[in-house]
Amino acid sequence: MLWTKQSLKDRIQDIIGDRMLIIASNREPYVHIHKEGKIEYIQPVGGAVTALDPVMKVCKGTWVAYGSGNADKEVVDKKNEVGVPPDNPKYKLRRIWLNKDEENGYYYGYSNKAMWPLCHMAYTRPAFDEVDWAYYKIVNKKFADTILNVVGNKKAFVWIQDYHLLLLGKLLKEKNKNLLTAHFLHIPWPNTEAFRICPQKREILKGLLANDLLGFHIRYHCANFMETVKLEMEARVDTEKTSVTYGGHEVFIRAFPISVDFEEISDAAQSKDTAKAVKKLKDEFSINDGLFVMAGLDRIDYTKGIIEKVRAVDRFFEKFPEYKGKVLFIQKGGLSRMHIPEYKNLNEELNGLVEEVNWKHSTEKWAPILFIRKHMTRKEIIALYKIADACIVSPVHDGMNLVCKEYIAAKKDLNGALILSRFTGAARELDGAIFVNPYSREDFARAIKKAIELPRAEKQKRMRRLRSVVKENNIYKWAGKFLEELKRI
Ligand code: F6P
Repeated sequence: MLWTKQSLKDRIQDIIGDRMLIIASNREPYVHIHKEGKIEYIQPVGGAVTALDPVMKVCKGTWVAYGSGNADKEVVDKKNEVGVPPDNPKYKLRRIWLNKDEENGYYYGYSNKAMWPLCHMAYTRPAFDEVDWAYYKIVNKKFADTILNVVGNKKAFVWIQDYHLLLLGKLLKEKNKNLLTAHFLHIPWPNTEAFRICPQKREILKGLLANDLLGFHIRYHCANFMETVKLEMEARVDTEKTSVTYGGHEVFIRAFPISVDFEEISDAAQSKDTAKAVKKLKDEFSINDGLFVMAGLDRIDYTKGIIEKVRAVDRFFEKFPEYKGKVLFIQKGGLSRMHIPEYKNLNEELNGLVEEVNWKHSTEKWAPILFIRKHMTRKEIIALYKIADACIVSPVHDGMNLVCKEYIAAKKDLNGALILSRFTGAARELDGAIFVNPYSREDFARAIKKAIELPRAEKQKRMRRLRSVVKENNIYKWAGKFLEELKRI
Protein backbone atom coordinates (compact mmCIF):
# COMPACT_ATOMS: atom_id res chain seq x y z
CA MET A 1 0.00 0.00 0.00
CA LEU A 2 1.25 3.49 -0.86
CA TRP A 3 1.20 5.80 2.16
CA THR A 4 -0.04 9.29 1.34
CA LYS A 5 -0.99 12.42 3.23
CA GLN A 6 -4.60 11.25 3.04
CA SER A 7 -3.97 7.70 4.25
CA LEU A 8 -2.05 9.00 7.26
CA LYS A 9 -4.91 11.43 7.93
CA ASP A 10 -7.43 8.59 7.71
CA ARG A 11 -5.51 6.34 10.06
CA ILE A 12 -4.09 8.74 12.60
CA GLN A 13 -7.15 8.71 14.85
CA ASP A 14 -7.21 4.95 14.92
CA ILE A 15 -3.48 4.84 15.69
CA ILE A 16 -3.18 7.42 18.46
CA GLY A 17 -6.76 7.13 19.74
CA ASP A 18 -7.64 9.67 22.40
CA ARG A 19 -4.03 10.61 23.11
CA MET A 20 -2.69 14.09 22.44
CA LEU A 21 0.28 14.13 20.07
CA ILE A 22 3.28 16.14 21.19
CA ILE A 23 6.52 16.53 19.30
CA ALA A 24 9.59 17.79 21.14
CA SER A 25 12.67 19.05 19.35
CA ASN A 26 15.33 21.65 19.85
CA ARG A 27 14.78 23.39 16.51
CA GLU A 28 11.40 24.98 15.88
CA PRO A 29 9.65 24.52 12.52
CA TYR A 30 8.94 28.25 12.03
CA VAL A 31 11.14 31.09 13.26
CA HIS A 32 9.76 34.64 13.49
CA ILE A 33 12.24 37.41 12.74
CA HIS A 34 12.32 41.19 12.39
CA LYS A 35 13.00 42.25 8.83
CA GLU A 36 12.85 45.77 7.49
CA GLY A 37 10.51 46.95 10.23
CA LYS A 38 8.12 43.99 9.86
CA ILE A 39 7.77 40.57 11.46
CA GLU A 40 8.36 37.75 9.00
CA TYR A 41 8.96 34.05 9.41
CA ILE A 42 11.46 31.60 7.95
CA GLN A 43 11.68 27.81 7.93
CA PRO A 44 14.97 26.38 9.14
CA VAL A 45 16.73 23.91 6.84
CA GLY A 46 17.56 20.96 9.16
CA GLY A 47 16.39 17.44 8.40
CA ALA A 48 14.18 17.07 11.47
CA VAL A 49 12.09 20.11 10.60
CA THR A 50 11.89 19.27 6.87
CA ALA A 51 10.57 15.83 7.68
CA LEU A 52 8.24 16.51 10.58
CA ASP A 53 6.40 19.65 9.53
CA PRO A 54 4.33 17.82 6.84
CA VAL A 55 3.52 15.09 9.39
CA MET A 56 2.33 17.58 11.99
CA LYS A 57 0.17 19.37 9.42
CA VAL A 58 -1.70 16.09 9.04
CA CYS A 59 -1.60 14.78 12.62
CA LYS A 60 -2.22 18.13 14.40
CA GLY A 61 -1.12 18.31 18.04
CA THR A 62 1.53 20.49 19.65
CA TRP A 63 5.19 20.90 18.74
CA VAL A 64 7.37 22.00 21.67
CA ALA A 65 10.67 23.66 20.71
CA TYR A 66 13.16 26.34 21.61
CA GLY A 67 12.04 29.77 20.39
CA SER A 68 15.17 31.08 18.69
CA GLY A 69 13.84 33.91 16.51
CA ASN A 70 14.27 37.56 17.52
CA ALA A 71 10.54 38.16 16.99
CA ASP A 72 9.32 34.83 18.43
CA LYS A 73 8.16 36.34 21.72
CA GLU A 74 6.05 38.96 19.98
CA VAL A 75 3.71 36.55 18.21
CA VAL A 76 2.92 34.00 20.95
CA ASP A 77 -0.09 33.98 23.27
CA LYS A 78 -0.04 33.78 27.08
CA LYS A 79 0.83 30.09 26.94
CA ASN A 80 3.78 30.88 24.63
CA GLU A 81 1.92 29.23 21.76
CA VAL A 82 1.39 30.25 18.17
CA GLY A 83 -0.51 28.50 15.38
CA VAL A 84 1.64 27.32 12.46
CA PRO A 85 2.22 27.47 9.54
CA PRO A 86 1.67 31.16 10.28
CA ASP A 87 -0.28 31.74 7.03
CA ASN A 88 -2.64 28.84 7.50
CA PRO A 89 -2.35 27.29 10.98
CA LYS A 90 -2.68 23.52 11.20
CA TYR A 91 -1.04 22.77 14.54
CA LYS A 92 0.34 24.51 17.63
CA LEU A 93 3.92 25.51 18.29
CA ARG A 94 4.74 25.91 21.99
CA ARG A 95 7.95 27.87 22.46
CA ILE A 96 10.48 27.43 25.25
CA TRP A 97 12.78 30.35 26.07
CA LEU A 98 16.43 29.84 26.87
CA ASN A 99 18.82 32.39 28.29
CA LYS A 100 22.31 32.91 26.80
CA ASP A 101 24.01 30.58 29.32
CA GLU A 102 21.50 27.83 28.64
CA GLU A 103 21.81 28.18 24.87
CA ASN A 104 25.57 28.19 25.17
CA GLY A 105 25.89 25.19 27.47
CA TYR A 106 23.04 23.02 26.18
CA TYR A 107 22.96 23.79 22.43
CA TYR A 108 26.45 24.94 21.43
CA GLY A 109 28.12 23.05 24.25
CA TYR A 110 26.87 19.59 25.11
CA SER A 111 24.67 19.00 22.04
CA ASN A 112 27.04 20.27 19.38
CA LYS A 113 30.53 20.14 20.88
CA ALA A 114 30.03 16.75 22.55
CA MET A 115 27.18 14.62 21.13
CA TRP A 116 27.32 15.77 17.48
CA PRO A 117 31.01 14.90 16.91
CA LEU A 118 30.75 11.82 19.14
CA CYS A 119 27.93 10.35 17.03
CA HIS A 120 29.29 11.35 13.62
CA MET A 121 32.85 10.08 14.12
CA ALA A 122 34.11 12.57 11.53
CA TYR A 123 37.53 13.05 13.15
CA THR A 124 36.48 16.09 15.15
CA ARG A 125 37.12 15.50 18.82
CA PRO A 126 34.11 15.70 21.12
CA ALA A 127 34.54 18.06 24.09
CA PHE A 128 32.71 17.01 27.26
CA ASP A 129 32.48 20.01 29.55
CA GLU A 130 30.89 19.67 33.00
CA VAL A 131 29.26 23.11 32.82
CA ASP A 132 27.77 22.29 29.40
CA TRP A 133 26.45 19.02 30.79
CA ALA A 134 24.84 20.86 33.72
CA TYR A 135 23.02 23.17 31.29
CA TYR A 136 22.07 20.22 29.11
CA LYS A 137 20.30 18.69 32.13
CA ILE A 138 18.65 22.01 33.04
CA VAL A 139 17.25 22.49 29.53
CA ASN A 140 16.06 18.86 29.23
CA LYS A 141 14.21 19.44 32.51
CA LYS A 142 12.76 22.67 31.14
CA PHE A 143 11.37 20.74 28.16
CA ALA A 144 9.96 18.09 30.51
CA ASP A 145 8.21 20.68 32.71
CA THR A 146 6.71 22.42 29.68
CA ILE A 147 5.45 19.16 28.17
CA LEU A 148 3.94 18.01 31.48
CA ASN A 149 2.18 21.35 31.63
CA VAL A 150 0.85 21.01 28.06
CA VAL A 151 -0.40 17.48 28.80
CA GLY A 152 -2.03 18.24 32.18
CA ASN A 153 -4.11 15.21 33.11
CA LYS A 154 -4.83 14.12 29.57
CA LYS A 155 -3.44 11.04 27.83
CA ALA A 156 -0.58 11.80 25.50
CA PHE A 157 2.07 10.44 23.21
CA VAL A 158 5.32 12.39 23.25
CA TRP A 159 7.57 11.99 20.23
CA ILE A 160 11.05 13.20 21.11
CA GLN A 161 13.50 14.18 18.38
CA ASP A 162 17.24 14.00 18.23
CA TYR A 163 20.37 14.32 20.32
CA HIS A 164 19.52 17.54 22.16
CA LEU A 165 16.92 15.85 24.37
CA LEU A 166 18.42 12.50 25.28
CA LEU A 167 17.30 12.71 28.91
CA LEU A 168 13.74 13.78 28.22
CA GLY A 169 12.08 10.34 28.03
CA LYS A 170 13.21 9.46 31.54
CA LEU A 171 12.33 12.86 32.99
CA LEU A 172 8.80 12.57 31.60
CA LYS A 173 8.22 8.99 32.71
CA GLU A 174 9.39 9.73 36.24
CA LYS A 175 6.61 12.30 36.58
CA ASN A 176 3.87 10.64 34.54
CA LYS A 177 3.98 6.87 34.01
CA ASN A 178 0.94 6.93 31.73
CA LEU A 179 2.69 8.91 29.05
CA LEU A 180 3.77 6.99 25.98
CA THR A 181 7.15 8.23 24.84
CA ALA A 182 9.26 7.49 21.78
CA HIS A 183 12.59 8.95 20.76
CA PHE A 184 13.88 9.24 17.20
CA LEU A 185 17.56 9.95 16.53
CA HIS A 186 18.16 11.93 13.34
CA ILE A 187 21.92 11.41 13.50
CA PRO A 188 23.99 8.21 13.47
CA TRP A 189 24.48 6.14 16.62
CA PRO A 190 28.21 5.38 16.90
CA ASN A 191 29.88 2.04 17.57
CA THR A 192 30.79 0.95 21.09
CA GLU A 193 34.43 2.02 20.77
CA ALA A 194 33.41 5.57 19.93
CA PHE A 195 30.62 5.87 22.50
CA ARG A 196 32.55 4.47 25.46
CA ILE A 197 34.65 7.64 25.83
CA CYS A 198 31.59 9.68 26.83
CA PRO A 199 31.82 10.47 30.56
CA GLN A 200 28.02 10.85 30.82
CA LYS A 201 27.25 7.68 28.86
CA ARG A 202 25.26 5.87 31.55
CA GLU A 203 22.98 8.82 32.25
CA ILE A 204 22.39 9.22 28.52
CA LEU A 205 21.58 5.55 28.05
CA LYS A 206 19.23 5.59 31.05
CA GLY A 207 17.47 8.59 29.54
CA LEU A 208 16.89 6.72 26.27
CA LEU A 209 16.00 3.35 27.79
CA ALA A 210 13.08 4.88 29.70
CA ASN A 211 11.16 5.35 26.42
CA ASP A 212 8.70 2.86 24.92
CA LEU A 213 10.16 2.96 21.43
CA LEU A 214 13.54 4.08 20.06
CA GLY A 215 13.95 4.82 16.38
CA PHE A 216 17.08 5.13 14.25
CA HIS A 217 17.41 5.66 10.49
CA ILE A 218 19.06 2.34 9.68
CA ARG A 219 19.54 -1.10 11.24
CA TYR A 220 23.25 -0.55 11.63
CA HIS A 221 22.57 2.29 14.11
CA CYS A 222 20.08 0.05 15.99
CA ALA A 223 22.74 -2.66 16.22
CA ASN A 224 25.34 -0.15 17.46
CA PHE A 225 22.94 1.02 20.14
CA MET A 226 22.13 -2.50 21.32
CA GLU A 227 25.83 -3.39 21.44
CA THR A 228 26.51 -0.24 23.47
CA VAL A 229 23.80 -1.12 25.97
CA LYS A 230 25.14 -4.67 26.27
CA LEU A 231 28.57 -3.31 27.09
CA GLU A 232 27.67 -0.44 29.38
CA MET A 233 24.50 -1.38 31.28
CA GLU A 234 23.12 -4.24 33.36
CA ALA A 235 20.26 -4.72 30.92
CA ARG A 236 18.64 -7.64 29.08
CA VAL A 237 19.25 -7.19 25.36
CA ASP A 238 16.94 -9.33 23.25
CA THR A 239 18.26 -9.53 19.69
CA GLU A 240 15.23 -11.55 18.47
CA LYS A 241 12.69 -8.97 19.58
CA THR A 242 15.23 -6.15 19.19
CA SER A 243 14.32 -4.79 22.59
CA VAL A 244 16.14 -3.89 25.78
CA THR A 245 14.80 -4.39 29.28
CA TYR A 246 16.33 -2.13 31.88
CA GLY A 247 15.02 -1.63 35.42
CA GLY A 248 11.97 -3.77 34.58
CA HIS A 249 10.98 -1.58 31.61
CA GLU A 250 11.17 -2.83 28.01
CA VAL A 251 11.98 -0.49 25.13
CA PHE A 252 11.80 -1.58 21.49
CA ILE A 253 14.51 -0.56 19.01
CA ARG A 254 13.55 -0.16 15.36
CA ALA A 255 14.86 1.33 12.10
CA PHE A 256 12.68 3.88 10.32
CA PRO A 257 14.45 5.52 7.36
CA ILE A 258 13.17 9.08 7.31
CA SER A 259 12.08 10.77 4.09
CA VAL A 260 10.36 13.76 2.46
CA ASP A 261 6.93 14.74 1.16
CA PHE A 262 7.53 13.32 -2.30
CA GLU A 263 4.22 14.35 -3.92
CA GLU A 264 4.32 17.88 -2.55
CA ILE A 265 7.85 18.54 -3.85
CA SER A 266 7.21 16.78 -7.15
CA ASP A 267 4.11 18.91 -7.81
CA ALA A 268 5.73 22.12 -6.56
CA ALA A 269 8.65 21.60 -8.93
CA GLN A 270 6.23 21.58 -11.86
CA SER A 271 4.35 24.71 -10.79
CA LYS A 272 4.31 28.13 -12.46
CA ASP A 273 5.66 29.66 -9.26
CA THR A 274 8.75 27.48 -9.48
CA ALA A 275 9.20 28.36 -13.14
CA LYS A 276 9.20 32.04 -12.14
CA ALA A 277 11.66 31.34 -9.29
CA VAL A 278 13.94 29.48 -11.73
CA LYS A 279 14.04 32.49 -14.01
CA LYS A 280 14.68 34.85 -11.11
CA LEU A 281 17.53 32.73 -9.73
CA LYS A 282 19.13 32.44 -13.17
CA ASP A 283 18.95 36.21 -13.62
CA GLU A 284 20.17 36.96 -10.10
CA PHE A 285 23.23 34.73 -10.40
CA SER A 286 23.78 35.05 -14.17
CA ILE A 287 23.39 31.30 -14.78
CA ASN A 288 23.60 30.76 -18.53
CA ASP A 289 21.33 28.23 -20.14
CA GLY A 290 24.15 26.37 -21.86
CA LEU A 291 25.96 25.41 -18.65
CA PHE A 292 25.78 21.98 -17.03
CA VAL A 293 24.81 22.86 -13.45
CA MET A 294 25.78 20.72 -10.46
CA ALA A 295 24.25 21.79 -7.15
CA GLY A 296 25.03 21.11 -3.51
CA LEU A 297 22.90 22.35 -0.60
CA ASP A 298 24.32 21.96 2.87
CA ARG A 299 24.55 23.54 6.26
CA ILE A 300 28.19 24.52 6.67
CA ASP A 301 29.18 21.59 8.84
CA TYR A 302 32.33 19.46 8.89
CA THR A 303 30.20 16.29 8.52
CA LYS A 304 28.81 17.40 5.16
CA GLY A 305 31.99 16.92 3.14
CA ILE A 306 31.89 20.38 1.55
CA ILE A 307 35.66 20.84 1.63
CA GLU A 308 36.01 17.39 0.04
CA LYS A 309 33.51 18.45 -2.64
CA VAL A 310 35.42 21.63 -3.52
CA ARG A 311 38.71 19.71 -3.65
CA ALA A 312 37.09 17.17 -5.97
CA VAL A 313 35.87 19.99 -8.23
CA ASP A 314 39.43 21.29 -8.35
CA ARG A 315 40.72 17.82 -9.26
CA PHE A 316 37.98 17.42 -11.87
CA PHE A 317 39.13 20.54 -13.75
CA GLU A 318 42.78 19.51 -13.40
CA LYS A 319 42.01 16.13 -14.95
CA PHE A 320 39.43 17.22 -17.51
CA PRO A 321 40.20 20.84 -18.51
CA GLU A 322 37.98 20.46 -21.60
CA TYR A 323 35.04 21.09 -19.26
CA LYS A 324 36.18 24.58 -18.29
CA GLY A 325 33.50 27.10 -19.14
CA LYS A 326 30.91 24.33 -19.60
CA VAL A 327 30.16 23.21 -16.05
CA LEU A 328 29.08 25.28 -13.05
CA PHE A 329 29.08 24.10 -9.44
CA ILE A 330 26.55 25.89 -7.26
CA GLN A 331 27.03 25.43 -3.55
CA LYS A 332 24.37 26.77 -1.24
CA GLY A 333 25.89 26.91 2.24
CA GLY A 334 23.91 28.09 5.22
CA LEU A 335 25.93 29.37 8.16
CA SER A 336 25.49 27.14 11.18
CA ARG A 337 26.61 26.94 14.84
CA MET A 338 29.07 29.79 14.29
CA HIS A 339 29.90 30.18 18.00
CA ILE A 340 31.74 26.85 17.85
CA PRO A 341 35.37 27.33 16.72
CA GLU A 342 35.35 24.26 14.42
CA TYR A 343 32.41 25.74 12.47
CA LYS A 344 33.91 29.22 12.30
CA ASN A 345 37.22 27.79 11.09
CA LEU A 346 35.50 25.58 8.55
CA ASN A 347 33.66 28.56 7.14
CA GLU A 348 36.89 30.49 6.78
CA GLU A 349 38.68 27.52 5.25
CA LEU A 350 35.85 27.11 2.77
CA ASN A 351 35.93 30.78 1.76
CA GLY A 352 39.64 30.54 1.11
CA LEU A 353 39.40 27.27 -0.79
CA VAL A 354 36.55 28.40 -3.08
CA GLU A 355 38.48 31.58 -3.82
CA GLU A 356 41.61 29.59 -4.65
CA VAL A 357 39.85 27.04 -6.89
CA ASN A 358 37.95 29.79 -8.70
CA TRP A 359 41.14 31.77 -9.25
CA LYS A 360 43.01 28.69 -10.48
CA HIS A 361 40.48 27.58 -13.09
CA SER A 362 38.44 30.64 -14.04
CA THR A 363 38.41 32.21 -17.47
CA GLU A 364 37.39 35.75 -18.37
CA LYS A 365 33.70 34.97 -18.43
CA TRP A 366 33.40 31.95 -16.17
CA ALA A 367 34.33 30.71 -12.70
CA PRO A 368 33.74 27.09 -11.67
CA ILE A 369 32.06 27.61 -8.30
CA LEU A 370 29.17 29.85 -7.35
CA PHE A 371 28.84 29.95 -3.57
CA ILE A 372 25.38 31.11 -2.47
CA ARG A 373 25.24 32.20 1.13
CA LYS A 374 21.89 33.96 1.42
CA HIS A 375 18.93 32.26 3.12
CA MET A 376 16.83 30.65 0.42
CA THR A 377 13.09 30.21 0.69
CA ARG A 378 11.50 26.82 0.06
CA LYS A 379 10.46 28.02 -3.38
CA GLU A 380 14.02 29.06 -4.26
CA ILE A 381 15.42 25.74 -3.05
CA ILE A 382 13.02 23.81 -5.27
CA ALA A 383 13.96 26.13 -8.14
CA LEU A 384 17.62 25.32 -7.56
CA TYR A 385 16.85 21.58 -7.69
CA LYS A 386 15.03 22.23 -10.95
CA ILE A 387 18.00 24.09 -12.42
CA ALA A 388 20.51 21.43 -11.35
CA ASP A 389 21.44 18.85 -14.00
CA ALA A 390 23.09 16.94 -11.17
CA CYS A 391 23.16 17.14 -7.38
CA ILE A 392 26.19 16.36 -5.23
CA VAL A 393 25.59 15.07 -1.70
CA SER A 394 28.93 14.19 -0.16
CA PRO A 395 28.88 13.94 3.65
CA VAL A 396 31.73 12.16 5.34
CA HIS A 397 29.01 10.75 7.64
CA ASP A 398 25.28 11.45 7.76
CA GLY A 399 22.40 9.68 9.54
CA MET A 400 20.18 9.88 6.46
CA ASN A 401 20.42 13.13 4.39
CA LEU A 402 17.23 14.54 2.95
CA VAL A 403 18.72 16.87 0.32
CA CYS A 404 19.22 13.92 -2.02
CA LYS A 405 15.63 12.74 -1.50
CA GLU A 406 14.28 16.24 -2.12
CA TYR A 407 16.32 16.52 -5.31
CA ILE A 408 14.92 13.22 -6.57
CA ALA A 409 11.37 14.31 -5.72
CA ALA A 410 11.87 17.52 -7.71
CA LYS A 411 13.00 15.69 -10.86
CA LYS A 412 9.69 14.65 -12.38
CA ASP A 413 11.20 15.31 -15.82
CA LEU A 414 13.85 12.64 -14.99
CA ASN A 415 16.52 15.07 -16.10
CA GLY A 416 18.95 14.77 -13.21
CA ALA A 417 21.80 12.68 -11.84
CA LEU A 418 22.67 12.16 -8.19
CA ILE A 419 26.20 11.83 -6.84
CA LEU A 420 25.88 10.40 -3.34
CA SER A 421 28.35 9.64 -0.57
CA ARG A 422 28.42 6.01 0.51
CA PHE A 423 28.53 7.24 4.10
CA THR A 424 24.97 8.58 4.22
CA GLY A 425 22.04 6.54 5.52
CA ALA A 426 20.30 7.32 2.22
CA ALA A 427 22.96 5.39 0.28
CA ARG A 428 21.40 2.14 1.56
CA GLU A 429 18.13 2.89 -0.21
CA LEU A 430 19.06 4.93 -3.26
CA ASP A 431 20.16 2.39 -5.81
CA GLY A 432 20.52 4.44 -8.99
CA ALA A 433 22.81 7.12 -7.58
CA ILE A 434 26.48 7.44 -8.55
CA PHE A 435 28.23 6.55 -5.33
CA VAL A 436 31.41 8.22 -4.10
CA ASN A 437 33.86 8.00 -1.29
CA PRO A 438 34.30 11.73 -0.48
CA TYR A 439 37.70 11.00 1.05
CA SER A 440 39.02 9.98 -2.39
CA ARG A 441 39.56 12.99 -4.68
CA GLU A 442 40.25 10.79 -7.69
CA ASP A 443 37.13 8.70 -7.21
CA PHE A 444 35.08 11.85 -6.64
CA ALA A 445 36.46 13.65 -9.72
CA ARG A 446 35.68 10.61 -11.87
CA ALA A 447 32.13 10.46 -10.47
CA ILE A 448 31.59 14.10 -11.48
CA LYS A 449 32.66 13.26 -15.03
CA LYS A 450 30.41 10.22 -15.06
CA ALA A 451 27.40 12.29 -13.97
CA ILE A 452 28.01 14.81 -16.74
CA GLU A 453 28.47 12.17 -19.39
CA LEU A 454 25.60 9.84 -18.43
CA PRO A 455 23.68 9.05 -21.61
CA ARG A 456 20.16 10.46 -21.53
CA ALA A 457 18.44 7.06 -21.47
CA GLU A 458 20.65 5.80 -18.65
CA LYS A 459 20.09 8.99 -16.67
CA GLN A 460 16.32 8.66 -17.03
CA LYS A 461 16.42 4.99 -16.09
CA ARG A 462 18.35 5.73 -12.92
CA MET A 463 16.14 8.67 -11.96
CA ARG A 464 12.99 6.61 -12.56
CA ARG A 465 14.34 3.96 -10.17
CA LEU A 466 15.31 6.57 -7.56
CA ARG A 467 11.91 8.22 -7.79
CA SER A 468 10.04 4.98 -7.28
CA VAL A 469 12.02 4.36 -4.06
CA VAL A 470 11.38 7.83 -2.61
CA LYS A 471 7.77 7.87 -3.77
CA GLU A 472 7.09 4.62 -1.92
CA ASN A 473 9.26 5.34 1.14
CA ASN A 474 7.87 8.81 1.70
CA ILE A 475 7.52 10.79 4.91
CA TYR A 476 3.93 9.64 5.51
CA LYS A 477 5.07 6.04 5.42
CA TRP A 478 7.83 6.87 7.90
CA ALA A 479 5.38 8.50 10.30
CA GLY A 480 2.67 5.88 9.76
CA LYS A 481 5.04 2.97 10.36
CA PHE A 482 6.50 4.62 13.45
CA LEU A 483 3.10 5.31 14.98
CA GLU A 484 1.74 1.87 14.06
CA GLU A 485 4.72 0.26 15.72
CA LEU A 486 4.05 2.25 18.84
CA LYS A 487 0.42 1.12 18.80
CA ARG A 488 1.49 -2.50 18.35
CA ILE A 489 3.81 -2.23 21.35
O1 F6P B 1 19.36 16.30 10.02
C1 F6P B 1 18.80 16.70 11.18
C2 F6P B 1 19.66 17.65 11.93
O2 F6P B 1 20.88 17.06 12.13
C3 F6P B 1 19.05 17.94 13.23
O3 F6P B 1 19.42 17.01 14.11
C4 F6P B 1 19.52 19.31 13.51
O4 F6P B 1 18.61 19.93 14.35
C5 F6P B 1 19.51 19.89 12.14
O5 F6P B 1 19.89 18.88 11.31
C6 F6P B 1 20.21 21.21 11.90
O6 F6P B 1 21.00 21.68 12.90
P1 F6P B 1 20.65 22.88 13.84
O7 F6P B 1 19.34 22.59 14.45
O8 F6P B 1 21.77 22.92 14.81
O9 F6P B 1 20.59 24.10 12.98
